[in-house]
Amino acid sequence: MPALADRSLKVFKIAVLVSGGGTNLQAIIDAIDAGIIRDTEIALVISNNEGAYALERAKAKNIPAEVISPKKFESREAFNDALQKRVQDAGVDLIVLAGFLCAIPDRMVDAYPDRIINIHPSLIPSFCGKGFYGLKVHEKALERGVKVSGATVHFVDKGTDTGPIILQKAVSVENGDTPKILQRRIMEQAEWKILPKAIDLIAHGKVKVDGRKVTVEE
Ligand code: GAR
Repeated sequence: MPALADRSLKVFKIAVLVSGGGTNLQAIIDAIDAGIIRDTEIALVISNNEGAYALERAKAKNIPAEVISPKKFESREAFNDALQKRVQDAGVDLIVLAGFLCAIPDRMVDAYPDRIINIHPSLIPSFCGKGFYGLKVHEKALERGVKVSGATVHFVDKGTDTGPIILQKAVSVENGDTPKILQRRIMEQAEWKILPKAIDLIAHGKVKVDGRKVTVEE
């Protein structure tokens, strides 16, 4: 893969991997249209779920969108091979997990060091790891009675939500919140802002990783 500095003259290509509604994909699309994410194109959207509304969002913008479902393969290994091959064939610079609920295979992490990012709907290291995804994250946060939650964009390593943290944004928990109300507030106030921002920063070489520490030049 080319060094970050070499990218200044070419379009930064991303793949967005989704499983569901695709509101984060939409936030990326809108941020590209608005010039918040610059010099970047979505080369490919991949969903593991053929019913994902995210696919409709991609098609509405003529973005190539494909389903690669583990159910259609004989083994997890075969699914992993197909996923990695498709991303490699698209020649992307960055893989963005935007609500993608399949684990990324270790060898794909090795092939894309500091080139896979994930949005998680809590302030890591709270409410993250195996079993914490989607609405469940907000159910657990409300059960624990936290007053502040939020979202995190991090690089993907071989653990679950353990990679270096790029950006975080806190969001207040309000009296009477249900998991759905809190989820929506965190999406609106945090996820849809920090995920596009992280992509623009990475596309412009503003994110440096040193072990578990990330420095962002703004
Ligand atoms: C988002 O809230 C995202 O942070 C979360 O799934 C939702 C997907 O929504 N991801 C995880 O929980 C990953 N552990 P979307 O399909 O509307 O973007």
